[in-house]
Amino acid sequence: MTKNTLLNTDFKDLKLFRKGKVRDVYDLGDKLLIVSTDRISCFDVVLPCAIPQKGEVLSSLSCFWFSFLKDLIPNHFITADINEYPQELKKYKSVLTGRSMLVLNCKPLPVECIVRGYLSGSGWKEYQKEQAVCGIKLPAGLKESAKLPLTLFTPSTKADVGHDQNVNQGEIEKLIGKEITAKISKASLDIYEKASAYALKRGIVIADTKFEFGFSNGKVILIDEVLTPDSSRFWPLDQYNEGRSQPSFDKQFVRDYLETLDWNKTPPAPDLPADIIAKTTQKYLEVYRKLTGNELK
Ligand SMILES: Nc1ncnc2c1ncn2[C@@H]1O[C@H](COP(=O)(O)OP(=O)(O)O)[C@@H](O)[C@H]1O
Ligand SMILES: [Mg+2]
Repeated sequence: MTKNTLLNTDFKDLKLFRKGKVRDVYDLGDKLLIVSTDRISCFDVVLPCAIPQKGEVLSSLSCFWFSFLKDLIPNHFITADINEYPQELKKYKSVLTGRSMLVLNCKPLPVECIVRGYLSGSGWKEYQKEQAVCGIKLPAGLKESAKLPLTLFTPSTKADVGHDQNVNQGEIEKLIGKEITAKISKASLDIYEKASAYALKRGIVIADTKFEFGFSNGKVILIDEVLTPDSSRFWPLDQYNEGRSQPSFDKQFVRDYLETLDWNKTPPAPDLPADIIAKTTQKYLEVYRKLTGNELK
């Protein structure tokens, strides 16, 4: 692979907090170090190859949104400037620069705050059967990928193993209380409204997305990654049309390629050819450029 890609980190002198599908998170006590690798997952399976610059795009995009949204809600972001990192991390400078951030170590709420502005994915499947999404009744006659008549907050509980479980507002209230539930549902909808209006002006439809919140010093703050292609469905506005599925902004080349293979979508995943990798990198850079108005430095 080209130099500077990163598939995996293995910082033996640091305490591993969690290895996700894409990010490696280290525990620094009251802070966490989040490293976005260049891993890519498709159909929920991590591929063996790296997508150059993907980690940088994801990390930088989260930084952008944290800053964009900070007046709406406080967040866990501390810094992405390696010069401000603790001394013990400086030896990893070449790996960490541009693809990592230091955040407050919070107590995460056990809820995935999903917001849907458009009818897609599992929502579309359920609508076809039940005329509802996560139990919320909707008008008849909506087409696939249609803009929903109102934006939906459809939380799920976080499952450590297996798939997250959709739950209704009442069940969330039992878990975390009425007040906090109201707070995170309003925050999720407010964030979606502000960010999706902005993105639309820049040619990107944010069809749906997922937020996480946590407690820090008794306050509820926004944590995890925010409005990245890994946590959201981004569609190119210029190709948007109701009545069919939409091309995904970032992974379409990968999905289309994998669909041509005789692969059953369970691990191990096949490798990708160089041209698919290169095109996918270009897609990530395009998302970043469109949303922020800047080239990735
Ligand atoms: N500031 C924070 N404090 C504590 N936990 C956090 C914070 N930000 C994110 N997390 C947690 O870190 C984990 C990151 O894992 P992730 O990379 O998302 O794995 P996966 O691919 O399984 O979703 C999540 O469980 C998330 O809740
Ligand atoms: Mg996650």
